Amino acid sequence: MVQAFGVAVVGFGWMGRVHTQAYARVRHHYPHLALRPELVTVAEEVPGRAEEAAAQFGFASTTRDWREVAADPRVHAVSITAPNFLHREIAVAMAAAGKHIWIEKPVGLTARDARAVADAVAEAGVQGAVGFNYRNAPAVEAARHLIAAGEIGAVTHARIRLFSDYAAHPEGALTWRFERERGGSGVLGDLASHGADLARFLLGEIASLTADTAVFLPERARPTGATAGHARAAGGEPGPVENEDYVSCLLRFASGARGVLEACRVSVGEQNNYGFEVHGTTGAVHWDFRRMNELGVSRGTAYQDQPVSTVYVGPGHGEFAAFQPGAANAMGYDDLKVVEAHRFLRSVAEGTPYGATLTDAVHSAAVLDAMARSAERGTWVSPEPPG
Ligand SMILES: NC(=O)c1ccc[n+]([C@@H]2O[C@H](COP(=O)([O-])OP(=O)(O)OC[C@H]3O[C@@H](n4cnc5c(N)ncnc54)[C@H](O)[C@@H]3O)[C@@H](O)[C@H]2O)c1
Repeated sequence: MVQAFGVAVVGFGWMGRVHTQAYARVRHHYPHLALRPELVTVAEEVPGRAEEAAAQFGFASTTRDWREVAADPRVHAVSITAPNFLHREIAVAMAAAGKHIWIEKPVGLTARDARAVADAVAEAGVQGAVGFNYRNAPAVEAARHLIAAGEIGAVTHARIRLFSDYAAHPEGALTWRFERERGGSGVLGDLASHGADLARFLLGEIASLTADTAVFLPERARPTGATAGHARAAGGEPGPVENEDYVSCLLRFASGARGVLEACRVSVGEQNNYGFEVHGTTGAVHWDFRRMNELGVSRGTAYQDQPVSTVYVGPGHGEFAAFQPGAANAMGYDDLKVVEAHRFLRSVAEGTPYGATLTDAVHSAAVLDAMARSAERGTWVSPEPPG
C-alpha cells in the first residue's frame, strides 16, 4: 500500500530546486517505494521565489518563515537546502517537531553543528539523510566494492581532487559562501566536504592529516540584489573574502594507506574536475565525475605495464538499473539526487538508514575542522569527531 507523504523544502536556490525535482521523479525510477512524496510547502526568504517554485512544481503552499514548516502537521519530511549558517537551527527545530530531514552538506559551520543535528535526529527518532551525492554514483559504488574485495591488492595511496571555477570570475558576487558567519569555511565545506566523504567511503577513516590553505581572490563585489547559486555582481561595493579558496592536504588513513586531497573553487580552466585515483599493490582504480559512468580499472598480476581498461557501468552496478537499461547510457548529476531521495524515503518507510547519514556528516566535518586546525598550526593533526 503506497502512502502519501508530505514533504517541504527550505531554501529554494540551486539545491532546493534539485531536491524538489528528485521528489517529483523518485517514483518514476523506484515504483515500489512505499511512500508517495507530496510537495506540501516551500519556505524561501527572497520575496516571490517560493511562489515561483509553487507555480512551477506544484507545492500546495508557500511561506517566508521556515518556522511555519516545523509547525505544519501536513509535513512529514523536510529538505534543508538553505545556506550553511542556517542548517543547525533549522534541522534541530525540524527534528524536534518530529520531521525527518534530508539536509545538504556540510551540515552547519563546524563539526559541533553537525553533531548537534545528529543528536537532535537521534533523540527525536527520525531519519536524517545528507547530500553527499557523489558516493551515489554507480561507478563510485563499484570502485568501493572492487577495493573492498581486494581486486587492486592492499591500498597503498590515493589522490582525491575537486577543482572548480565557480568562484574564479573576479566579478563573482560576495555571497554567503565567502563569509565566515554565514558560510563557515570556504572550499573546505563546499567541495572538500565531498572529498572527505569520498575518502572515508572508499578507504575508511582518516587517522591524521596536514593541510595548507590559501585565498587567491581576497576581495569580491557585494551582491546588488538577491542571489542564488554563483551570481555575478559587477559594480557592487567591494568586501573581503573571509574563507579559503584552496586547500591541499596529506592524509594518513587508519589502514596505513596514504592520500592527497586537493580542492579549489577558483581554478580557471577546471569545470567540476572532481575525481580520484586509488592505487593498490596489484592494481588501481580511477574515476572522473565528468565521465561519471566510467571507471578506469587496472587489475591482474603484471605489475609493470599492466593495462588499464575502461568499464562502462551498467545495470549490475549500484543504482544504475533504476535509470538506464544498459551500460553506457549516461546517468547525470540530478540522478544522483534521485538516488539520494530514494534512500532517504526508504529509510523513513523501513525505519532504518540507507545512504549517507548524519554520522557521516559528523565525520566529514571533523576532517574539515582538522584541516583548518592543521593549516593554522602548520602541524599534523587527527580528526576528532565531537562525542
Ligand atoms: N550536494 C551538492 O552537490 C551541493 C551543491 C551545491 C550546494 N550544496 C549545499 O546546499 C546548500 C544550499 O546551496 P545552494 O547552492 O542551493 O545555495 P543558493 O544560494 O543557491 O540557495 C540558498 C537559498 O536559500 C535561501 N534562504 C536564505 N535564507 C533563508 C531563510 N532564512 N529561509 C528560507 N530560505 C532562505 C536563499 O534565498 C536561496 O534561495 C548549501 O549548504 C550548500 O553547501 C550542495
